[in-house]
Amino acid sequence: MKNFDFHNPTKILFGKGRIADLNDHVPADAKVLIIYGGGSAERTGVLTQVRTALADRTLVEFGGIEPNPRYATTLNAVKAIADNDITFLLAVGGGSVIDATKFIAMAALYAGDPWEILTAGSTKVTQAMPFGTVLTLPATGSEMNNGGVITNPEKVAKLPFRSPHCYPIFSVLDPELTYTLPARQIANGAVDAFVHIVEQYLTYPSGAHVQDGFAESLLRTIIELGPKALETPEDYDIRASLMLTATLALNGLIGAGVPQDWASHMIGHEITALNDTDHARTLAVILPSLLNDQRGHKHEKLLQYARNVWGINEGSDAVRIDAAIDATRAFFEQLGIKTHLSDYDIATPEIELIVSALEEHGMTALGEHKDITPTDVRRILEASL
Ligand code: NZQ
Ligand code: ZN
Repeated sequence: MKNFDFHNPTKILFGKGRIADLNDHVPADAKVLIIYGGGSAERTGVLTQVRTALADRTLVEFGGIEPNPRYATTLNAVKAIADNDITFLLAVGGGSVIDATKFIAMAALYAGDPWEILTAGSTKVTQAMPFGTVLTLPATGSEMNNGGVITNPEKVAKLPFRSPHCYPIFSVLDPELTYTLPARQIANGAVDAFVHIVEQYLTYPSGAHVQDGFAESLLRTIIELGPKALETPEDYDIRASLMLTATLALNGLIGAGVPQDWASHMIGHEITALNDTDHARTLAVILPSLLNDQRGHKHEKLLQYARNVWGINEGSDAVRIDAAIDATRAFFEQLGIKTHLSDYDIATPEIELIVSALEEHGMTALGEHKDITPTDVRRILEASL
């Protein structure tokens, strides 16, 4: 196991009715900007609950954060902060709203051009406004981590950021808020969390028994409960376990002290930048193909994954690895998520655009060994058609 620092300051307020407790966690004298998405929070009554809980505060609202949040929209929110002397931000929504809020929190206090935060590395960020979140979609883990992703269609770019100043102060996780999610978003969330775990687990053995065991347990939970969440949408315990799983998948714990491989995410981001495919769907295409392509490097962990996650114990090494990759693809398809590029209108010409975009964004040394080059990515994409 490698040395590591682990510090996660986000307070989790988990369970039914917890929005009512916002009053205890938002500073009493705060002037709050409530940031939300395209209208689901209003339709589902979540915003009404938030307004009621914070009735004694001065509240200003900023809606319209898009899925795959747009850079230009975040700048409009920064202006609203200045215009209204806002002192605290509250994200109400899924990963897109939370990511946007993190970026807004940094950009509002940033002296230079905020685009630098995405291109010059977040080391230049020395502060961010305080913010909390009310999570409505279990998927990204953004509610308990310090990263995010912002899309700029003009530049055909979807770029990640990370900063120690971007942990939410608190996050409300009420599983009942997920009952209104369409099946498509539940499936997306299950796949996104699944791939987050795999990218921190399925590399090479590093003697990290706790992290491995924790990761395997989270993966088995998603395999068992993902389909059930679609079949019985208002089963509280299923929704609660899935919500907790998605948060634990990317709050830093299972990734502490282990090698990581974020290649599927980096390739997937370029697909979304190109044609707005849902984030999780890009991962469902890339991951099985990447695992097959990198089966040499990942040999030992693929066998461990086959055994401990899928219960595959019969046959030669190659047979068990094939079976584990097939099971992964079949699981995504079972959730209703297609796993080939052709399902998302991507053919050979688009593959070249994706590879060029990765090069332009400096993503030329991916994977746990930093040896997945643009040539390798092209091969992985061609095998995903
Ligand atoms: O916009 P509204 O109207 O709110 O509707 C949203 C949106 O259309 C809807 N929705 C959310 N909660 C709902 C609901 N509809 C009904 N009932 C509810 N309770 O769901 C749609 C998708 O929302 P979005 O926030 O875009 O989805 P998700 O949570 O999957 O977030 C995806 C974004 O997160 C980034 C992705 O790249 C993508 O931009 N990621 C962030 C990460 C992080 N911060 O650590 C890691 C991830 O790998 C990921 O990259
Ligand atoms: Zn993701």
